[in-house]
Amino acid sequence: MSHHDSPTIETAVETSEPPTTRPETADRTAIEARGLSVSYGDEQALQAVDLEIPDQRVTAIIGPSGCGKSTFLRCLNRMNDLVETATVGGELLFDGTDVYGEAIDPVALRRQIGMVFQHPNPFPKSIYDNVAYGLRIQGQTDDLDGRVREALERAALWDEVEGQLDKSALDLSGGQQQRLCIARAIAVDPDVLLMDEPASALDPIATGKIEDLIEELAADYTVIIVTHNMQQAARISDRTAVFLTGGELVEYGDTEQIFEDPASQRVEDYITGKFG
Ligand SMILES: Nc1ncnc2c1ncn2[C@@H]1O[C@H](COP(=O)(O)OP(=O)(O)O)[C@@H](O)[C@H]1O
Ligand SMILES: [Mg+2]
Repeated sequence: MSHHDSPTIETAVETSEPPTTRPETADRTAIEARGLSVSYGDEQALQAVDLEIPDQRVTAIIGPSGCGKSTFLRCLNRMNDLVETATVGGELLFDGTDVYGEAIDPVALRRQIGMVFQHPNPFPKSIYDNVAYGLRIQGQTDDLDGRVREALERAALWDEVEGQLDKSALDLSGGQQQRLCIARAIAVDPDVLLMDEPASALDPIATGKIEDLIEELAADYTVIIVTHNMQQAARISDRTAVFLTGGELVEYGDTEQIFEDPASQRVEDYITGKFG
C-alpha cells in the first residue's frame, strides 16, 4: 500500500464514523456485582453495589480514601474471607458463576483472579523461583523455563533480568519488583488481574512502565485497577467506576464520559478536586 493513498482513505473513514471511539456492544461481562454489600462488624464499607465489568478491558476504580475501593477488589477473589469481621451480602458473579457459592474453591478462584498490591511483595527467593512459584504448586513443571520466560516477557521485565534469573528478587528496584509480581500473577494464566494502587509506591518512570504494561495486558486479561490518581485512571482505563464516601458506587461508565461529562455533580466535584 502506498503512503500517498492511506491518508485520504483514513480521513474518509473518520468522517463517516460516529464520534464514539470505543466499541461498547462487543463487550462480554466478566464480573457482575448485584447489590454487593460488605460490612466490617457494624460498619458498612460497601453499599449495595451494582456493577458489570467487561472482559479484556481496563476498568478503573477511583474515589477518596476509605470509600471501599480495596474492599470491593478483595470481594472479587474472596480475599475478604481472610478478614474475620467482614460479612458480604448480595451477589457476585464471575463468568456467570456465584463467587460466594458453595462450589467455589477460593484458592482455585485466586488463580483465575490474580492480585497485585500497592507495595511490591516478591518472595525472598530468586527471580526465577518467584515466577515459577504458582506453576510448581500446580504441578505445571514441563517447560518451566519457557513459561517463566514468557511471563517475564509479558510483564515487560525479561530484557532487564535475562541472564540473572538466579539473583534475589529483593535486589531488584521497586518498579522491577512490581513487574515481577505481575509476572508471578500472570504465570499461572489467570483471567482477571486485580491491581490495588499498583504504582502509587513507585517513581514516575517506573509508574509509566507499569501504565504501559497495564494497557498491553488488557489484550489478554480483564484488568481492574484501583487508583487514587485520576490522571492515571483517565490515561489507562476504558471504564471508570467512581466510589464516594460510605462505599457507594456513584457513577460508572466510559472513562471519557466520566472525566469529560459526568452525570453526577458529586462526581464532577470529586474529579475537579473540590474534595477528596
Ligand atoms: N480489615 C478491616 N477491618 C475493619 N474495617 C476495615 C477493614 N478494611 C477496611 N475497613 C474499613 O472499610 C472502609 C473502606 O476501606 P477500604 O476498602 O480500605 O477503602 P479504600 O481502599 O477506598 O481506601 C473504611 O472505613 C475502612 O476503615
Ligand atoms: Mg485501598
